[in-house]
Amino acid sequence: MRLPKHVTICEVGTRDGFQIEPEFIPTELKVEVVDRLSEAGVPRIEVTSFVHPRVVPALRDAEAVMAKIARRPGTVYAALVPNDKGALRAVDAGVDVIHTVVSASESHNLANVNMTIADSLEKLRAVGRVARRAGKPVIAGVSTSFGCPFEGPVPPSQVERVVTQLVDMGAQGISLADTTGVANPLQVTRVLEHLIPKFAAIEWTLHTHDTRAMAIPNILAAMECGVTRFDASIGGLGGCPFAPGASGNVCTEDLVHCLHAMEIGTGIDLARLIATSTRVQEIVGRALPGQIIKAGPSQRRYPLPDGVALRLPKGVR
Ligand code: COA
Ligand code: ZN
Repeated sequence: MRLPKHVTICEVGTRDGFQIEPEFIPTELKVEVVDRLSEAGVPRIEVTSFVHPRVVPALRDAEAVMAKIARRPGTVYAALVPNDKGALRAVDAGVDVIHTVVSASESHNLANVNMTIADSLEKLRAVGRVARRAGKPVIAGVSTSFGCPFEGPVPPSQVERVVTQLVDMGAQGISLADTTGVANPLQVTRVLEHLIPKFAAIEWTLHTHDTRAMAIPNILAAMECGVTRFDASIGGLGGCPFAPGASGNVCTEDLVHCLHAMEIGTGIDLARLIATSTRVQEIVGRALPGQIIKAGPSQRRYPLPDGVALRLPKGVR
């Protein structure tokens, strides 16, 4: 396998995850989670989104969250915006990086942001201008890049058309999103091999959902193609409220555990990450899909059953 030495994880649980929580999570608890993540060494955090508060009431406290987090030097704090109004709010709130969203399929874009793709791209052009004036980089996300819950397969040529316009408007990075967890590793390879050579200057991110247990295999495929940036959510929180059947992102601590086991660095303290996931489970009041929090890391050892120790051949243990 051709694996990188280091990858950059962007935690999206407090946005992609908290946006869909049925009970409003109080601002102080959102702030606590963001601060625990930065203390665990997570290098990038998509803290919240600046969207219409009626459309996503769970994140209506975006400004307050940004104002109250403890900014850890070196941590990059991003937020998602759908339009220039969101970008202005995000800049005022002090985000470091602006994440945008548009879908590769018309149906999902209409369901998600109530606009055609063309209208969204027009709004994102305005976002680009706001970001440039403020000196903030833009990472443009493309939802349903590997398939749409309404339309089915999305051809790579369609993703390419959207990416071309996002690059034109000044996006430094593109985040390809498998919004409903339909991608498989072969498809990820095909899409990335189609796109990466065409946009030499772009930093690519893969945003996965683990809806069908294919997120980590897809991340492996993307690493083989040279991608080193991945979104993940603590505990595996998440889902898109505007995509039926969507469930959580790849679980951050499971991904970090897998990467560390393969000697790929993340800069993240796994024990602190697992402690954060435990706290998030308390906050949302239920167990989350992550596996490492249940199984423990692969180095975990159990006490020998009674009697076995005495019968072990010499030199074992
Ligand atoms: N933040 C706050 N308010 C916003 C806003 C933003 N980013 N963008 C628009 N508005 C306000 C407008 O000011 C206007 O307010 P008014 O009625 O008081 O004049 C109102 O919303 C309607 O504006 P319009 O441009 O017609 O927006 P819309 O109602 O069609 O909604 C979006 C479009 C994009 C704002 C909305 O669909 C949205 O926020 N979607 C986000 C979905 C999401 O987060 N999905 C999950 C992420 S993948
Ligand atoms: Zn997502």
